[in-house]
Amino acid sequence: MKSFLRMIAVSKIATLGAALVTTAVLAEFLLVVGELFFFESHPYIGIISYMALPGLFVTGLVLIPIGVLLRLRKAHAGFSLAAVETIATRRGISVPHLLQVILTLTLLNIVLFALVGYRGFHYTESVEFCGTLCHEVMHPEFQAYSRSPHSQVGCVQCHIGPGAEWFVKSKLSGARQLVAVFTDSYSKPIETPVHNLRPARDVCEVCHRPDLFHGNLLRVRQHFEPDEENTHTYSVLNMRVGGGDTPGVDAHGIHWHVSKKHEVRYYATDRKRENIVWVEQLSEDGTRRVWSNPDAPVEQPAEADLRVMDCVDCHNRPTHIYLSPDDALDEWMMTDRVDPEIPWIRKIAYEVLTPVYETAEEAMAGIARLPDLYRERFPDHWETYGERVRAAVPELQELHRSFVFPSMKIEWNTYNSLIGHATPHTQACFRCHNGLLRDEADEPITTDCQSCHYILADREVDPRILDRLTTR
Ligand code: HEC
Ligand code: HEC
Ligand code: HEC
Ligand code: HEC
Ligand code: HEC
Repeated sequence: MKSFLRMIAVSKIATLGAALVTTAVLAEFLLVVGELFFFESHPYIGIISYMALPGLFVTGLVLIPIGVLLRLRKAHAGFSLAAVETIATRRGISVPHLLQVILTLTLLNIVLFALVGYRGFHYTESVEFCGTLCHEVMHPEFQAYSRSPHSQVGCVQCHIGPGAEWFVKSKLSGARQLVAVFTDSYSKPIETPVHNLRPARDVCEVCHRPDLFHGNLLRVRQHFEPDEENTHTYSVLNMRVGGGDTPGVDAHGIHWHVSKKHEVRYYATDRKRENIVWVEQLSEDGTRRVWSNPDAPVEQPAEADLRVMDCVDCHNRPTHIYLSPDDALDEWMMTDRVDPEIPWIRKIAYEVLTPVYETAEEAMAGIARLPDLYRERFPDHWETYGERVRAAVPELQELHRSFVFPSMKIEWNTYNSLIGHATPHTQACFRCHNGLLRDEADEPITTDCQSCHYILADREVDPRILDRLTTR
């Protein structure tokens, strides 16, 4: 060891390198012990312990030999063995001992480096890293994710998925994103659809096999109408989800689109993929069908402009679920967070929730106006319901905070779901099922309500079908 220290001492650069390595190792050790026993892990600690400190460590390691070599060259105008020996004897360094120490330390460093690298790799794949590090940017996505059915599925399971190719792509794109965050050059809101998203079938089908689904799925949707009683209504739909790659079953129903026996491709003229003008079905047996608008014919689009339909052409919000103000209010009233007994609350709550507020503070203040507004508009009800109206304020503020993020320019309906046909900013299923796109025989892509769902009740107060389905 003495030989090693003497060797380092020959050069200032090498000494600096050794100091860096020592600091990095000590700091890393303290952080790891701290994280294990004393404090909660935090994204910035992750950045320090898996990126900054290893960086310092490697820089230090590299500096040591550089320093020694530079020194040798300066003193002896070359790197000859003789030169090393001269210096060694002059400084009382034993070369075999020196080699031993260097070898041991190198081995130790490799082990250390592999351990930290391994943990660092896991760290960059963690929900904490993806979801909370760039807090402002990812806050909305992380919030929406945390409430969703996929909140136990890691970000990387959908955004990277299995295999080396997408792993590399994701690290490159991640590096670009870091630069974008530091230079504040990312788009607000983050653009959707995500054009370089991995084809969903690679990732979703690790867990789901919709091609094997079959049959229907019952959905009961509840609403509160904007009238004095906030009338509670029910829509009951039997969704014809279908599927169909099980032997003997033809592809049918909603999951017909993702049967493995054919591919559905389409051409949209805009980046939002809203204006779909050409659709094609290519079957395993070589048959091909094409639908387009006979009144505005399009040439066969270039291959590069075509998109193969996959899960996210419908399930674009499997986990980043941003409700519309209507759906959000329905949910808050269904769960009594906003008391449905308060006359007119559905209507007036909507009015304070939906203006475009410039900042979150403004929004909170706007919503806090509710009691004053209520007393002014419904003085007769104030006496009885005033307290309950006041109690609704923090709940409505929480509702707004859950779905609207002014700092990221995420308004109501910025991120609409493509499932259905009643969302404000997208035609959703009706982008294709609109009666305009027709095949060679002039048949439209189906617009028959019953091909997608049997409507068992449409906003009814007391649908008979529910008596049969429940013991309500
Ligand atoms: C169940 C799969 C799934 C998981 C888990 C998931 N995402 Fe996503 N994410 C998607 C899909 C699908 C889209 C694309 C939506 C589109 O293209 O319209 C998306 C879009 C995004 C977007 C673009 C903005 C938007 O909402 O369209 C960001 C940012 C994002 N995800 C971040 C994350 C982060 C961070 C996590 C983990 C906290 C995560 N995602 C977990 C499926 C997932
Ligand atoms: C790692 C496994 C996994 C992956 C990957 C995954 N999911 Fe899921 N998904 C689940 C689980 C588990 C549930 C059920 C959660 C529950 O019922 O609470 C679920 C539920 C769903 C549901 C039903 C939600 C509901 O409201 O009932 C849909 C739709 C769905 N996933 C679509 C997708 C899509 C689209 C993708 C790809 C972008 C995807 N999933 C990727 C595991 C996964
Ligand atoms: C044409 C649009 C469309 C495509 C493409 C599509 N789905 Fe669906 N999927 C639906 C609809 C609509 C439902 C019914 C959901 C509802 O009413 O809430 C559904 C239901 C589901 C469910 C819930 C089933 C249940 O029993 O709860 C899962 C899981 C699912 N889809 C996964 C997928 C996956 C994975 C893919 C891609 C391989 C996919 N879907 C492709 C439209 C689609
Ligand atoms: C291409 C398929 C498709 C067609 C055609 C279609 N719908 Fe729908 N519809 C859907 C989907 C998907 C949903 C969303 C189901 C859900 O919320 O889970 C939906 C939802 C609904 C709802 C429930 C809304 C609510 O939340 O209360 C009603 C009512 C409805 N559709 C009526 C109709 C009527 C009437 C027609 C015919 C004029 C029609 N739909 C045609 C796919 C379709
Ligand atoms: C990119 C275009 C496109 C979109 C978007 C789309 N579809 Fe389709 N869909 C088609 C085509 C093409 C067919 C085949 C022609 C037909 O059956 O009329 C089809 C057929 C269907 C069928 C009948 C399948 C059968 O049994 O033969 C159902 C049900 C259906 N779609 C439901 C939906 C629902 C629900 C959505 C939205 C969640 C949706 N589609 C979105 C293009 C689309």
